[in-house]
Amino acid sequence: MKVAVTGGAGFIGGNFVQYMVNKYPSYDIFNLDVLTYAGDLTKHKNIENNENYHFAKVDISNRDEIMELFNKEKFDYVVHFAAESHVDRSITEPEIFVKTNVLGTQVLLDASKAINVKKFVHVSTDEVYGELDFDPTTFFTEDTPLQPNSPYSASKASSDLLVRAYHETFKLPMNITRCSNNYGPYHFPEKLIPLTISRVLNDQKVPVYGTGENIRDWLHVLDHCSAIDLVMHEGENGEVYNVGGHNERTNLEVVKTIISALGKSEDLIEFVQDRLGHDKRYAIDPSKLEKLGWKPTYNFDTGIAQTVQWYLDNKEWWETIISGEYKQYFEKQYGNK
Ligand code: NAD
Ligand code: DAU
Repeated sequence: MKVAVTGGAGFIGGNFVQYMVNKYPSYDIFNLDVLTYAGDLTKHKNIENNENYHFAKVDISNRDEIMELFNKEKFDYVVHFAAESHVDRSITEPEIFVKTNVLGTQVLLDASKAINVKKFVHVSTDEVYGELDFDPTTFFTEDTPLQPNSPYSASKASSDLLVRAYHETFKLPMNITRCSNNYGPYHFPEKLIPLTISRVLNDQKVPVYGTGENIRDWLHVLDHCSAIDLVMHEGENGEVYNVGGHNERTNLEVVKTIISALGKSEDLIEFVQDRLGHDKRYAIDPSKLEKLGWKPTYNFDTGIAQTVQWYLDNKEWWETIISGEYKQYFEKQYGNK
């Protein structure tokens, strides 16, 4: 079985590559990644010599390269993670989000159609549904209308619609997964949880947007990996599955939990200007996926404890990142803090 994993050098794709290489030694796992600022291969040092791990440096929006690779390898499955993934960057530089997330997905769909893949698994996000209000009894279901609010989520919703259209028009076998906020090992430090951990460890201020009351539904990345594994093998053709674990927290609660776990002072919290178009609340109803047999193994308390410990044990990985190009990004985004 040949499985192409796009974006396998990033956060979730990287965890998924590790999960698949170890769980399925008889599968050939191909990591397809162009290595943007968010991709790094050091996370795969432990598997780079495994016979069932392969890497191809390729841009998903480069039609010729993708067609050539797909025609050569004749993948059975494509699991598509590669994307520009950070909402803040989509507000300042939307164009690359359209190129990678929309055009890149369409190129992959054409290539998958050309070689008749068994299934195209499109990894999407709960952000395509827009936002919920603070009523704790409301959730996103698979039938919630798409109403994306940021250039990032609009580009992801566009790619979802293309995947759906290739299924309807060309009968391309597919599933779409829509997951809530992930956290865990190798989360890039531009995102709230790793940003907070890395800054608190360096006794630097943590920028909290607006009042910190916005709510996200947090899922440990390994629980997301097991969900995708299940959907890839057991998902009903053409279906959408929401992924989330009922772990809703305000941003302020998340930041305070991390500060407390690291034994530091809440004086490190700094309220800063709100994100433009900041979605109030995300919350997932995962019952359709649970009926398929999925169960998360982490709750937020166990997951955040494991994650904080991982960042303590793997300082070299994130220190290398925050001393590079990321430094200029941080200054541009937040001013010189
Ligand atoms: P990430 O930013 O950490 O990684 C993205 C990866 O894609 C990087 O390795 C990057 O090099 C690669 N990439 C970018 N452009 C590419 C291109 N043109 N060609 C080939 N590779 C390219 O992202 P992530 O947080 O791991 O998210 C992965 C996927 O999961 C995305 O599709 C995202 O929309 C979705 N998702 C993320 C979350 C989350 O909380 N992070 C939640 C739900 C869904
Ligand atoms: O819901 C799934 C989405 O989760 C994914 O599709 C995205 O790829 C992923 O980046 C994530 O999007 P968010 O915008 O929710 O994640 P982020 O970590 O950027 O922000 C989480 C919350 O924290 C959000 O309400 C904004 C806030 N925030 C974020 C940063 C970076 C702050 O208050 N301060 C910050 O410095």
